[in-house]
Amino acid sequence: MSDDKLYTPIKVALEKDKNYGWCTCSHSKNQPFCDGSHKAHNATPSLRFSVEEAKVYNMCTCKLTSNPPFCDGSHKK
Ligand code: FES
Repeated sequence: MSDDKLYTPIKVALEKDKNYGWCTCSHSKNQPFCDGSHKAHNATPSLRFSVEEAKVYNMCTCKLTSNPPFCDGSHKK
């Protein structure tokens, strides 16, 4: 993944009631999801979440959002 992509949202089709882990530390190579890299970097753990509706979501990758794990436009600021 290029650095450019790390700072723009990613559209992801999420499944209803499935448990996901959103990367909060930016070290994951599987953005926007946690891949366990925070352990090696002694960084913040993932944010666990699920959704009530199966659809495509705009997921934050810049980690600046006020509405994690979703993009709120903060990457533009
Ligand atoms: S990618 Fe948009 S707020 Fe983080």
